Amino acid sequence: MSGSPATSIRVEPGGPLRGELTVPSDKSISHRAAILAAMSEEPVRIRNYLDARDTNSTLNALRGVGAVIEMGPDEVTIRGTGLRAVGEVQDAIDVGNSGTLMRLLPGWLAGQPGGAAWTIDGDESIRRRPVDRIADPLRRMGARIDTHAGRLPPFTVHGSELTAIDYSAPVPSAQVKSCVLLAGLLASGSTRVSEPSPSRDHTERMLLRAGVPIEREGSAVRIACTDELQLETIEVPGDLSSAAFWITAGVLIRGSRLVIHGVGVNWTRTGFLRIAHRMGAIVLADLEPEGSPLSPDEPVSELDVSAAPLVGTTVEAEEVPLAIDDLPLIALLGCYAEGETVVRGARELRLKESDRISGVVDGLRALGGDIEATEDGFAIRGGGGLRGGTLDARDDHRLAMLGAVAGLASREGVEVIGMEAAAVSYPLFLDDLGTVA
Ligand code: S3P
Repeated sequence: MSGSPATSIRVEPGGPLRGELTVPSDKSISHRAAILAAMSEEPVRIRNYLDARDTNSTLNALRGVGAVIEMGPDEVTIRGTGLRAVGEVQDAIDVGNSGTLMRLLPGWLAGQPGGAAWTIDGDESIRRRPVDRIADPLRRMGARIDTHAGRLPPFTVHGSELTAIDYSAPVPSAQVKSCVLLAGLLASGSTRVSEPSPSRDHTERMLLRAGVPIEREGSAVRIACTDELQLETIEVPGDLSSAAFWITAGVLIRGSRLVIHGVGVNWTRTGFLRIAHRMGAIVLADLEPEGSPLSPDEPVSELDVSAAPLVGTTVEAEEVPLAIDDLPLIALLGCYAEGETVVRGARELRLKESDRISGVVDGLRALGGDIEATEDGFAIRGGGGLRGGTLDARDDHRLAMLGAVAGLASREGVEVIGMEAAAVSYPLFLDDLGTVA
């Protein structure tokens, strides 16, 4: 969002939401599809690649290191460099606002033979986000990484000979796990990553699909050194974290009924739906069962959403990674639910595109919500709903869309400052709002 003026919009409360929609393609899967395609020797076709600011940063970064990218009407074709032939660049690689790109790409760069170095930088938000969480394991594998102030971007990754490690990540993080797995493709030996509880597994699924020897062992993943990735086509499903805004609006606004097509329902992403169901939300879907074994496929379902009365719930630490990006919406649901809603063990929210504990709490409180921040989450006394007012998105796409949905559900409407941030994951959010509201 560097330097562009903030755009305010006002979202007025309206009647029931009705209709059908298709949400943008999954951001996490799109990043991975592009990076793994760039690591391949043969061309890879990606259908429904997300056309949004974050995933365009990924395409630009990959062009910079030598991938050739053709943009078709419905698919992107990437001719990669192969696993061990990343191109050198003059300037820093600009990851824009994308934490996923910033943390996955270094896994590949760190294992490049020949001693070249790449510097990675991004926008103001990126410069506040820690990279020690990937630098630590990569250094243990033999990588050389220079960070700013010991833990921040800009940082430089020097290609090195890597050796496999057995890494226990201190917090569950799909970005860290994926970074170590990508480095593991290039490291001699067999690399293992374990997490305190499972995080999203899109990288593992796509690597399995690419013919890589990868196995899940409880909450750990093991990967072996690999010669090449074999991928031909990748189909990206709709993003549940984008659908979650409409699910929330549909559940909250009396008389609503929305059908959302083609949404990815990999069980490591559907924590939000499990929590919302527990609160009383009516969302009919064909969900992948929780705990399903590792598979090369990404399951997809239609979601049929109807308004329903809600009750408060407690979200515990193990549930957090599987709903991490959607927890702001649990806070909004909590404002309308009878009783208390508490989210615990979610300190990671402070390290997202903005500090999402303070952004959600200050934002919803300014609209009349009875919500308090805790060190690792928030607590809401619900039932009173929201009056309305002004919410500052703080250059954070998910807070901007939270504000707009809060406006639809509120009594007096909401002015969202910085609505343009939605373009990071959902450029056509306001068009879809016009379709269903
Ligand atoms: C992501 C993982 C999560 C999530 C982020 C996308 C990914 O971050 O919050 O929006 O694509 O791997 P962490 O892995 O840091 O929890």
